[in-house]
Amino acid sequence: MKSECASQKKMTVRGLLRLREAGTRIVCLTAYDAVMARFAEEAGVDLVLVGDSLGMTQLGFSSTIPVTLEQSLMHTAAVARTVRRALVVGDMPFMTYHLTPEQTMSNAARYLQEAGADAVKIEGGRAFAPVVKRLVEAGVPVMGHIGLLPQRVKAEGGYFVTGKTPAAAARLLADALALQKAGAFAVVLECVKAEVAAAITAKLEIPTIGIGSGPGCSGEVQVLYDILGMSGEATPKHARVFGAAGAAVRRAFSAYRRAVVDGTFPGPEQSF
Ligand code: KIV
Repeated sequence: MKSECASQKKMTVRGLLRLREAGTRIVCLTAYDAVMARFAEEAGVDLVLVGDSLGMTQLGFSSTIPVTLEQSLMHTAAVARTVRRALVVGDMPFMTYHLTPEQTMSNAARYLQEAGADAVKIEGGRAFAPVVKRLVEAGVPVMGHIGLLPQRVKAEGGYFVTGKTPAAAARLLADALALQKAGAFAVVLECVKAEVAAAITAKLEIPTIGIGSGPGCSGEVQVLYDILGMSGEATPKHARVFGAAGAAVRRAFSAYRRAVVDGTFPGPEQSF
């Protein structure tokens, strides 16, 4: 079957729905800058998420909590200026959609108007359905996010796999259905037990995008540095290193350093 990404047509939220209906798995990747956005686009990913994982991957924070709206908008704009075909989703940071409806609306609008994103993502289940509904009614496409919610790390006391009991699985399903009803165009399922994620996917009409949630979702998202072997510490269990770019960069930087120190770089070819 010909997937949307085989064409050069701009991906839309309707396009993602068509992929799900056709049984074509949806490929999503995070990116935070123009360089990596270009690589993601060239690979034909369907959706580029400028995740608030920006905080750890780019800004040196230990969680997503300190990421500000301005930082997120700046990185989203860099990605949106580069990507032509994939859907660009800006991830609204902690406390930028929790206060007043007016503040949520004007913060979300900045992703579409200033940063050039196609949609926003917010974390949270049923409690956030009214927020999703208001945004969608105003014309802001929203991607939901349930399961492990990194913005709640301090409230939860860590990062945990979710959906481990029948009651927890039922709560996740209720969250997903509420987000769908509110108008979300897709839902990220993060670190949800694989069988629970597959059951939720079967019950929804919108795509589920998994990370650490097994193969039964409509698509997958990964943090790009995790699949490039560049995440610093150990690669998370939910990721696979598809290309050891981290090792290649390390080798290149060491070779450059050695060449400068031993005087073999720059050589005549690099001189004017
Ligand atoms: O911030 C992020 O990168 C995310 C994905 C892991 C879903 O929210």
